[in-house]
Amino acid sequence: MGGYLQKVNVLLIGSGGREHAIAHALSKSKSLGGLHCARGNGGISELAKCHDVSETDFDGLLKICEENSISLVVVGPETPLVEGIVDFFRSNDIRCFGPKKDAAILEGSKDFAKRFMKKHNIPTARSESFKELKLAIEFVRLKSWARVIKASGLAAGKGVIVCDTKKEAIAALEKIMDRKIFGAAGDCVVIEERLEGQEASILAFTDGTAIVPMIPSQDHKRAFDDDKGLNTGGMGAYAPTPFVDKVTEDLILNDILLPTMIGLSEDGIDYVGVLYAGLMLTKDGPKVIEFNCRFGDPETQAVLPLLESDLLEIMLACTEKRLDQIDIRWKRGFAATVVAASGGYPEKYEVGKNILIEPAQGTIVFHSGTEKKDETLLTSGGRVLSVTALGDTLHESIDKAYNGLSMISFEGMHHRKDIGRKALSELKEKTSASPDEIQHL
Ligand code: AMP
Ligand code: GLY
Repeated sequence: MGGYLQKVNVLLIGSGGREHAIAHALSKSKSLGGLHCARGNGGISELAKCHDVSETDFDGLLKICEENSISLVVVGPETPLVEGIVDFFRSNDIRCFGPKKDAAILEGSKDFAKRFMKKHNIPTARSESFKELKLAIEFVRLKSWARVIKASGLAAGKGVIVCDTKKEAIAALEKIMDRKIFGAAGDCVVIEERLEGQEASILAFTDGTAIVPMIPSQDHKRAFDDDKGLNTGGMGAYAPTPFVDKVTEDLILNDILLPTMIGLSEDGIDYVGVLYAGLMLTKDGPKVIEFNCRFGDPETQAVLPLLESDLLEIMLACTEKRLDQIDIRWKRGFAATVVAASGGYPEKYEVGKNILIEPAQGTIVFHSGTEKKDETLLTSGGRVLSVTALGDTLHESIDKAYNGLSMISFEGMHHRKDIGRKALSELKEKTSASPDEIQHL
């Protein structure tokens, strides 16, 4: 592993629970000098100096770098990546952990991602893209499998409508293409086959020549228990997920991650950073639902606390194309993360509510939508906090996380009560499996 004589000053971009978890992992690094964040939140401000500069104000961010001798910029959210923040910093001779604009398009355009997957034979749902409503409706009428309607552009994780019937699919097309409920993100739609199975999130580090998956996790996208209600950014996660066993793990690496990396390279795209493959584990093997060009939220809050290796060393190795020289190790055991959201989220919600947190032993509270005003912690977003706990068993990690959550309160708070429940049933069925078999990629 490379050593750094000089400590590295880092600017982290973003303000959610994901960035808090990244800041938490970076702050343990022996190579870290100063940690800065733009804009950060109430929790990140305990670990980093926060600057009130927007994630897309590239000139403002550059000024922070110049004034604080920043030598690595770590980008959390997708919007600045898709807008070319990495290209901007590289042209100003500042290294950046994250993909350039031509690589981030894998998340920025679902239409591009589908064409890429078709070209490189990466397993995914059947699909067709449309820019004209009339043709899209005709297609849904003709094809009985065409039941998932997606805005091609960025829509904060909410641009997908999964339908049961032809009628619903046509209504979804009208909402996206005619009424523009997702704005310009819906100028082009991808119509997909509906896949069935368990979902898994595979986040992987890549330097463009090597790709190393992190432990597999599972998100809970719907707002309410038993996967009811609207899609959210994610209401909880746990890792590693037992739904990804050794055989599946090999399929994911050989049929999805490696062909993606090789395909990107063949197409002249140099991808550095985190590649996130959202998968459906179907009876015909894992298939890609979506690619993201960054860490997931809340998956990161479950995955990174299990990372034993030095995150900053890994990120530096990615930017120097020597990921293959790094030994990435994971702690044994499991992590569970439960999100506490504002009343009404993912629809309309109020902010500015007082947050009370009693410390619970063995838990980490990551902040998402919080802000500190005169030493008082207030809610400032839809997803407010996430509580993570580690355990030797998944059961233990879930119990501890819920215990931590019970020590938190704010007016209107809501959370899911079934994070990891499907995995616990799966583990019960797999009692004959050895812990190693279900543990690590
Ligand atoms: P995405 O924003 O693409 O991750 O989609 C949001 C959610 O919609 C996913 O987590 C899945 O639960 C669901 N979804 C997306 N694509 C499909 C599909 N082709 N079949 C079934 N469910 C899907
Ligand atoms: N948890 C889903 C995402 O980060 O896109």
